[in-house]
Amino acid sequence: MSRRAAMQMSRFLVRPTRQRLFSTNISKIVVSSNNASNISGPRFTNSGILEVRYWSSIAGEEKQMQAPKLENSGNENATDQGGNAVVSSYWGVAPPKISKEDGSPWRWNCFRPWETYKADTSIDVKKHHEANAFMDKFAYWTVQTLKYPTYLFFQRRHMCHAMLLETVAAVPGMVGGMLLHLKSLRRFEHTGGWIKALLEEAENERMHLMTFLELSQPKWYERALVFAVQGVFFNAYFIAYVISPKLAHRIVGYLEEEAVNSYTEFLIDLENGVVENKPAPAIAIDYWRLPPDSTLKDVVTVIRADEAHHRDLNHFASDIQCQGHELKEYPAPLGYH
Ligand SMILES: [Fe+2]
Ligand SMILES: [Fe+2]
Repeated sequence: MSRRAAMQMSRFLVRPTRQRLFSTNISKIVVSSNNASNISGPRFTNSGILEVRYWSSIAGEEKQMQAPKLENSGNENATDQGGNAVVSSYWGVAPPKISKEDGSPWRWNCFRPWETYKADTSIDVKKHHEANAFMDKFAYWTVQTLKYPTYLFFQRRHMCHAMLLETVAAVPGMVGGMLLHLKSLRRFEHTGGWIKALLEEAENERMHLMTFLELSQPKWYERALVFAVQGVFFNAYFIAYVISPKLAHRIVGYLEEEAVNSYTEFLIDLENGVVENKPAPAIAIDYWRLPPDSTLKDVVTVIRADEAHHRDLNHFASDIQCQGHELKEYPAPLGYH
């Protein structure tokens, strides 16, 4: 084969991938020249899967870059400040335009208006499950033993205490929900809504964490502590739930009782001026549908009500199983959080 023929052959072989592997121009032109409507990966791909994936990642980059502008537009004809068309979609799906009740744009991607709620603050914050049976006593004293080192470590640094404990509190719901989900698949059976209830709890706890993050940022050693604690706690709780779900739920019930107590301490210090009663962060106002002039005290009040609900849900789940029943026999308390 002559040299010229060899070069032509190599060009022919490389051509299908050349545009995407060696140049970003085509992709960027595709992204920026379309009017953000109905863009789809395959539509622009003539050369196979490499192109689809590469184009996809570029679209993702563009989406991220444009996101702040699009939050206020959210429609197919979005334009930037210079009047140029911008990408408002991923995989060709334009994000829905979501507004608050007053018509202002919805600014949160991590939760939507239909996931917000008003906390039931009339819930009994002093309720306590008497530990009579051996298992209950074991669960209670496990929690009491874990409680003292954390109180010693944090003392009256409530914000820091709350933030770090929320990183732990969001684990049991996810582990329990995941294991019930797998059990449902294995046994071909319904679970009475308990998967959803536990995942709701996990998400609600994570929103507590996101709220505190607006008020305080963790330091490097706190991040390291969370990293270590999560590694231990996730595995310990997973094993506990596999061995005895009723014990696992009882432990969480008592943990939530302690969460209620520590938020009550937080509220007392807010009332006495020991902790500054800052304005409530915007994320909390939207998530709990609080009045615009709400304060940190209002936020802690609704979070405490959430914890009281988690306490009741987990003691209820444990009671069901302690009485010889399965969770699926009793409908889960859904929709409150
Ligand atoms: Fe929480
Ligand atoms: Fe909780």
